[in-house]
Amino acid sequence: MKRKLTAARSLLWALAAVTVAGSAVAQSSSPEDEIAQYRAMFGDDNPAELWQTRGEALWKQPRGPKNVALAQVCDLGLGVGVAAGAYAQLPRYFSDTGQVQDLESRLVTCMVRGQGFTEPEAIQQHFGKGDAKSDLEALSAYLVAQSDGKPMHVPFDRPEERAAYELGKQVFFYRAGTHDFSCATCHSQTGKRIRLQILPNLTTAEGATAAYTTWPAYRISEGEFRTMEWRIQDCFRQQRLPQLKYLSPVAIALTEYLARNADGGVIKAPGLKR
Ligand code: HEC
Repeated sequence: MKRKLTAARSLLWALAAVTVAGSAVAQSSSPEDEIAQYRAMFGDDNPAELWQTRGEALWKQPRGPKNVALAQVCDLGLGVGVAAGAYAQLPRYFSDTGQVQDLESRLVTCMVRGQGFTEPEAIQQHFGKGDAKSDLEALSAYLVAQSDGKPMHVPFDRPEERAAYELGKQVFFYRAGTHDFSCATCHSQTGKRIRLQILPNLTTAEGATAAYTTWPAYRISEGEFRTMEWRIQDCFRQQRLPQLKYLSPVAIALTEYLARNADGGVIKAPGLKR
């Protein structure tokens, strides 16, 4: 079913990246139109497949000081080793850590407790750059693809899950930084744009669903696969806030807020983004 990307197609993708990156300067059509054109060119292919393949190997191969596979030790919420559909039910509360966790923080727990890595080892290079690829991005690509087409059921019975949602909501509307922006400044009106980029209204079910279910995603402009933690920390940067700490309660709370607003939506990821 899944075809390998040929070298020729990889080259075309690299050219696409240059064009999209350049489109911020010379705008003829909107980035959405351009991405639609690339989709038409490539059919169902998404370069995220390269990350998925590497992620599958990372999930299934024995690794770390304990030499065990994540597939043997990692419970993403639906049981040890169950990958299918697990992402569609995250974030959630895990009793063994006493925390609400998103996909990435749960993977780090599994790498530390299950495989014996130290936390610094597990999170070093959590976002890939050039040749320094990220294991966590690859694992995310594989695991998210295992929920593609599945409806989201984000558990909300536990008080911890409700508290994470409330914190996420507060942060979303909290204005700070040199520009006194909140997430809501850019993301609470329908049809708002920055330059030609459409800013989704993340406070509505429709807007949150369209955004949340299409992340994590391959970003053409970077030639990288990116996770939800990446997406949120990049918006912290756009908001001129201090750098968001990877896996922090605030990052997870914002993810919980968006995921619950998108609950019931069908996962269509890995996505393909500007
Ligand atoms: C200064 C405006 C601005 C602020 C403030 C901002 N964002 Fe964004 N956000 C953007 C832009 C622009 C994009 C689209 C980026 C792109 O296409 O690469 C985006 C994209 C997103 C997306 C992905 C949407 C999609 O459909 O792919 C999410 C999710 C998101 N932002 C969440 C947040 C959160 C959470 C906050 C607060 C921490 C926030 N943003 C603050 C400008 C902003």
